[in-house]
Amino acid sequence: MKKWYAVIGDPISHSLSPFMHETWFRENGLDASFIPVHVEPSDLKQAYEALLILGASGFNVTLPHKQAIIPLLGGIDDTAAAMDAVNTVVRSGKSFNGTNTDGDGFVKSLLTMKPASDSRILLIGAGGAARGISFALKRGGFEDVTITNRTYRRAEELASETGSKPMMKAEAEHRLGDFDIIIQTTSVGLAEDEALPIGLQNVRPGSLAADIVYNPIETPFLKRAEEEGCRTLNGVGMFVYQGAIAFEKWTGIKPDTEKMIQLITEKLG
Ligand code: ATR
Repeated sequence: MKKWYAVIGDPISHSLSPFMHETWFRENGLDASFIPVHVEPSDLKQAYEALLILGASGFNVTLPHKQAIIPLLGGIDDTAAAMDAVNTVVRSGKSFNGTNTDGDGFVKSLLTMKPASDSRILLIGAGGAARGISFALKRGGFEDVTITNRTYRRAEELASETGSKPMMKAEAEHRLGDFDIIIQTTSVGLAEDEALPIGLQNVRPGSLAADIVYNPIETPFLKRAEEEGCRTLNGVGMFVYQGAIAFEKWTGIKPDTEKMIQLITEKLG
């Protein structure tokens, strides 16, 4: 029987996941479909039951359902439990299990830049995305992680959970030159505004600036970092690798990530 997969979210029409996974199904000779499904928060339970009954083999979960899906699932793994969020669901018989590939997707993307494992890393933000990345950095062997955030208390909380160091935003701005890698995980840059989550005047030329936002490809943060002489990493790699990890969980096949990064960069460019 033909297998099918989905991504659920609200909104969902701009998702590039259907394009990405259907391309990989084709490239790997798999007879499968990937469908975007618009699910409003009040319909999540019914949508979940429909996916189960109609035989989806797995699905991705995007905003705003990443936490709300958890009580509906048969179970979640340690990664999703630590993040308290699920982005990938895999069928197991008559139920679905949840995991989260966002943080590991970011770290795989970061590894393409060949960073030293003793790099001094500054993570900007303390929301859901920062949470996934800070756990994944630790799993990936990056020990020297500092977290800064507009609301300092949230940076303190996340840092204490992940064995990282919290830092006030003003101090991080002042000491930016101490860091080898600066990762921007906030929603600033998604909007048209030119605001930056942190002033970059003290950044060290040659250090690496990474953003998790991939649309626009060049966020105000990356643009400014490039002007200051930083190397940059946009969010396309994270998006592709989180999808590739999910694809492998669903099919057992490692898809071609390099070509996909190129395709998506062309699509968004
Ligand atoms: P996500 O799951 O996408 O990480 P979130 O949990 O709502 O979303 O977290 C958003 C992050 O962006 C937070 O770190 C937030 O800072 P606060 O904890 O102070 O709210 C940060 N953020 C959002 N808008 C911001 C802005 N205008 N300037 C600086 N940080 C901002």
